[in-house]
Amino acid sequence: FTKAAEIELPAAFDAHVHLRDGEMSQLVTPTIRHGGVNQVYVMPNLVPPVTTVKQCLEYRDRLRAIEPNVDYLMSLYLHETITPGTIREAKKAGITGVKSYPAGVTTNSSSGVVDYATFYPVFSEMEKVDMILNLHGEVPSTPAHSHTSSAKDATAITILNAEPAFLPTLLTLHSKFPKLRIILEHCSTAVALETVRKCGPTVAGTITAHHLSLIIDDWAGDPFAFCKPVAKTPEDRDALLRAVVRSQGRFFLGTDSAPHASTKKRGEDKIAAGVFTQPNAVALVLDALQVGIERGVLKEGDVTKEVLEGFLGGWGRAFYGVKEGKGETIVLRRSAGKVVNVLKKDGVSVEVVPFRRGEVTWGVEW
Ligand code: NCD
Ligand code: DOR
Ligand code: ZN
Ligand code: ZN
Repeated sequence: FTKAAEIELPAAFDAHVHLRDGEMSQLVTPTIRHGGVNQVYVMPNLVPPVTTVKQCLEYRDRLRAIEPNVDYLMSLYLHETITPGTIREAKKAGITGVKSYPAGVTTNSSSGVVDYATFYPVFSEMEKVDMILNLHGEVPSTPAHSHTSSAKDATAITILNAEPAFLPTLLTLHSKFPKLRIILEHCSTAVALETVRKCGPTVAGTITAHHLSLIIDDWAGDPFAFCKPVAKTPEDRDALLRAVVRSQGRFFLGTDSAPHASTKKRGEDKIAAGVFTQPNAVALVLDALQVGIERGVLKEGDVTKEVLEGFLGGWGRAFYGVKEGKGETIVLRRSAGKVVNVLKKDGVSVEVVPFRRGEVTWGVEW
């Protein structure tokens, strides 16, 4: 791998993307294929969130109109209005899964889940009809004004332990619904990886490209490296790199590419969480693996063709039960690509600054 100038792979499956709507979707949806991807699982956290089958199918139509050469797997936003009946209707309509956001943890999650038990009838129906449950695995932070030095605050939640604190919920859901296929999205800690591995084969995890290279110090002060869950310690990052090559199908790529207008990243207000990687999705994974080898975390022989094909597509497709329909392949060329400084488009008023802007990376040819 470290010496290959060129690698041919099946076109990738990105199991977690934010394509937004309106102008922003016009800007980012055409970059899916630039990243080497032809099949995506689309997140529902629009404003308002996608909570009905009708909204979801209309959203898919709008995405198809922008870029027809991508297969869009769709999700609903877990919301109090979703019932077992909604799940049956969604399954019939070809919707793939339901994404759950704990209330208040990230972009557009204000209408998210407060108590998972409320949704047990919905999860039970999902288990029955075989729809996937995608978990944003963080609990909300303890409000800052309630932090005191008293002993009962030993368990105060911050963005650094928000994911570990969620893991008991994953275990509970898995034990109550053992046949329900659950994905712990954007795993960011070693303990999350261990917890997924401890579960049965109905539970998997996605890993982003950026969590394979970032640590805390990288996003502290850099809005374009700030996302939820935040990147954690070097040990966590290295555990993620090892999980890619020792995945055995349990971990696969979901970039969580999350575009925000540059004004939301550089303005005077609070900085929006989200790292935008879509145009270079596959290339950024290869770069992270390369650095992993150079730092001695991975061995040259770890990054086999089987690992690349699996992590970038095969394992995710197997878990989702979908095929790469058209047999498309991509050719990656080392150092033949460059991350743009800013993504913009005629007639679109928003601009997005990508992760590792301006840097050299692998090029992608179809
Ligand atoms: C919106 C977002 O991130 O929620 N983007 C933005 O920052 N302007 C979504 C959108 O505009 O489509
Ligand atoms: O950083 C993030 N941004 N994490 C998420 O879970 C949501 C996403 C977004 O939608 O911007
Ligand atoms: Zn999420
Ligand atoms: Zn996301």
